[in-house]
Amino acid sequence: MKMLEPLKLNELISLKNRIVMAPMTRSRVDNKERTVSNLHAEYYRQRAGAGLIINEGTVVSEMAVGYLRVPGIYTAEQTAAWKKVTEAVHKESGLIFCQLWHVGRITHPVLIGGRTALSASAVNHKGRVLTPDAVLDSLSPREMDKIDIETVKNEFVIAAKNALEAGFDGVEIHSSNGYLFHQFFSSSSNIRTDEYGGSVENRARFFFEVLDAMLQVIPAQRIAVRLNPMMHDSIGILVDEHTLPVFDYIVQRLNDNPIAFLHLTRPSKILDLPYFEKDIIGRYRKIYQGILIVNGAYSPEEAELEISSGRADAVAFGKLFISNPNLPEKIKNGEALKDWDQASFYSPGEKGYTDY
Ligand SMILES: Cc1cc2nc3c(=O)[nH]c(=O)nc-3n(C[C@H](O)[C@H](O)[C@H](O)COP(=O)(O)O)c2cc1C
Repeated sequence: MKMLEPLKLNELISLKNRIVMAPMTRSRVDNKERTVSNLHAEYYRQRAGAGLIINEGTVVSEMAVGYLRVPGIYTAEQTAAWKKVTEAVHKESGLIFCQLWHVGRITHPVLIGGRTALSASAVNHKGRVLTPDAVLDSLSPREMDKIDIETVKNEFVIAAKNALEAGFDGVEIHSSNGYLFHQFFSSSSNIRTDEYGGSVENRARFFFEVLDAMLQVIPAQRIAVRLNPMMHDSIGILVDEHTLPVFDYIVQRLNDNPIAFLHLTRPSKILDLPYFEKDIIGRYRKIYQGILIVNGAYSPEEAELEISSGRADAVAFGKLFISNPNLPEKIKNGEALKDWDQASFYSPGEKGYTDY
């Protein structure tokens, strides 16, 4: 099987197979310092048979938080705690990237020390936010000014440095799924009239400024980017006539630097919309010249087809890795795969986490 063959990302990183674990928030942090524990180390150790693990969304600051019990990578204490995880994975000859996350407006003041959320524009996504005591209506965020833009850029730079110090093999910028960078890309959340809004170049500017700043401090070979271009009608993001031009521009421009890979999520449903690209993977395989990792409800059979036909270099599995920690081994042996328990996706403790 092609899926079980090694994949060289670049001169620094080679994967032992093409089965990647997709980033998944599991809300298992049990302290307000947002440090990971031995439980996290055990969870990731169990899954180290993956060619590459992309860890859960890991916040770059206190303002970046949008969910309960998520880990951070902005303090020395958090960085030190992650070493337990990376060492456990490396001991099993696995590789692990850290997904760097800022939710932007997908939060509530209750989760970010009473402050107003940051976003491209002051546009409320009109969602419901789970907080420790109640589910609350989202409030309008604040349009990021030049100082905020510099601050967040700096947070990503520090987080990237911390991640490498913690022993991660690289970082993935979480520029997908409707969070901060996606809020700059999308005309449903970005109505700015300055150099960060309007044209495709402007809407991608903040993202590329952050990427460029990260490139100054860690090698390009250790930076990956995640995009979910066809996300629609979810946390305030819509596909419209501006969507494909923006993502075409971003993907084309990612060719300028030899980053580790582009991680592309295909839509969960093919929608009958005027500006919908039904084959987002085919579209960007043609434009992107680097390593392409694809994701989105793949079965092993479909993943093998995607890789053997050359449409992708590797496939990332999410939910299947929750319930099948030794997924690559099971695929190799043709063993039946276990279903996941959705009720324990985000619940605290070992149940549904390290007991599959
Ligand atoms: C429990 C859970 C948590 C997730 N958390 C994240 C996350 O932190 N970052 C991210 O980029 N995607 C996240 N996702 C999306 C997955 O990475 C993936 O795109 C999605 O599950 C589809 O792939 P799959 O069908 O193979 O599971 C999450 C998905 C699940 C099920």
